[in-house]
Amino acid sequence: MHKANLGEKMVKISIVKNTEIYIIAIISGISGMLFGYDTGVISGAILFIKQEFALGSFMQELVISAVLIGAIIGAFVGGSLADRFGRRKMIIFAAIIFAGSAIGTSVSPNVIILIIGRVIVGIAIGMASFIAPLYISELSPPKIRGSLVTFNQLFITIGIVISYGVDYALAPINGWRYMFGLAAIPATVLFVAMIFMPSSPRWLVNEGKMDKASSTLKKIRMKDNVKDELDEILNSLNKQKGGRKELFSPLIKPAMIVGVSLAILQQITGINTVIYYAPTIFEFAGFHSSAAAIFATFVVGFVNVGFTVVAIFLLDRVGRRKLLLIGLAGMSGMLIMLGIAFILPSLLNQLGTLAAIGLMAYVGFFAIGLGPVFWLLISEIYPLKVRGLAMSIVTEANWGSNLIISLTFLTFIQLLGRSGTFWLYAAVGIIAVIFTYRYVPETKERTLEEIEEHWRVGKHPRELGR
Ligand code: BGC
Repeated sequence: MHKANLGEKMVKISIVKNTEIYIIAIISGISGMLFGYDTGVISGAILFIKQEFALGSFMQELVISAVLIGAIIGAFVGGSLADRFGRRKMIIFAAIIFAGSAIGTSVSPNVIILIIGRVIVGIAIGMASFIAPLYISELSPPKIRGSLVTFNQLFITIGIVISYGVDYALAPINGWRYMFGLAAIPATVLFVAMIFMPSSPRWLVNEGKMDKASSTLKKIRMKDNVKDELDEILNSLNKQKGGRKELFSPLIKPAMIVGVSLAILQQITGINTVIYYAPTIFEFAGFHSSAAAIFATFVVGFVNVGFTVVAIFLLDRVGRRKLLLIGLAGMSGMLIMLGIAFILPSLLNQLGTLAAIGLMAYVGFFAIGLGPVFWLLISEIYPLKVRGLAMSIVTEANWGSNLIISLTFLTFIQLLGRSGTFWLYAAVGIIAVIFTYRYVPETKERTLEEIEEHWRVGKHPRELGR
């Protein structure tokens, strides 16, 4: 008993001392910040772009959704590239695209160049959105992998808040060009810092570079003997097949179903209607001054950041499944409440307050569950030989659903009304609770190789971690 306690303490101390891995997670997390910033910045920039280029509503929609189209392309090409050239090199490549397209979009002479530039920004986002979690996951010790991978989600939420702030600060000078151009600064920092980061030891093993894998592991684990971990990776790898066909084999299919379903559910429960349209929703709810709507939007952004921090503390303790279930149930509850608030005339006076509380609680529940858990799980559940490929397909499903929801939100409001739209998202949320309960595995404290073994013996996803 005494010995076990001592052992636990030692593990804790070595985790705290192991600053290197935290630095790696923070540096690669900058790509998450660019993801958040570049998706968020358009909400403010579009107001000036539409004036400067005299855009109709179709062209505006095109400017807004260009990033999402690019992200679908980036997710598609990123998978095989990450397997071939490695995770680290692909993050460096994405950083170059981020920097180049930030400058390119900021000097666009016409709207066509602007749209092309935004598609290219999107390509970098699509790649980085899954390669960064993948990279961190492959470097992390199992006990703190949940927290470390979630740094990326934390940076996404910080990037969104920064974009709100920059839009707000630069609005008085019509500064849309600066809004886009400023992203070149974090992109350059990411580029330079990533040059000094190690390659993923698991990718190195896959490439047959055992010596390099061993020296990298020794450094990031801060110990001289990493033979057991290397053997585990190698053994697991020797039992795997690669290639696209493998993804649809009976053994990997369950993991694909979990990933693709969560990818779609993460979007069709409506998070980005709040992230992209929060001021519009607050206006519906009776916030007539735009200053009040903008202030409320900022608060939503901070709630997103704050609860992602809470998730970082809880994911490796409480587990992914429980947080996902609590988060989804809470999101559905809040959506039902929002629907009621918008339909009952007797609540009209309190609508503003109810909408604000409902939206913030909804975002808080997203931030402890579906937000981080989706990106975390997909970085954990696929076997090394097909990891990049599998994640890229799942990520495409995520960006594709994001595009569909963003393009249909205002149409749904017209067709179903405000309450109907919220209830539709709530219904999807309830389906997501049932799906999670029945299918989503618990990966807490498992090594990636133990998870691979789980599929190899043909077990149901839910049995993992039971
Ligand atoms: C989602 C994004 C969303 C963001 C909000 C991410 O996990 O993939 O679509 O905008 O969370 O925090």
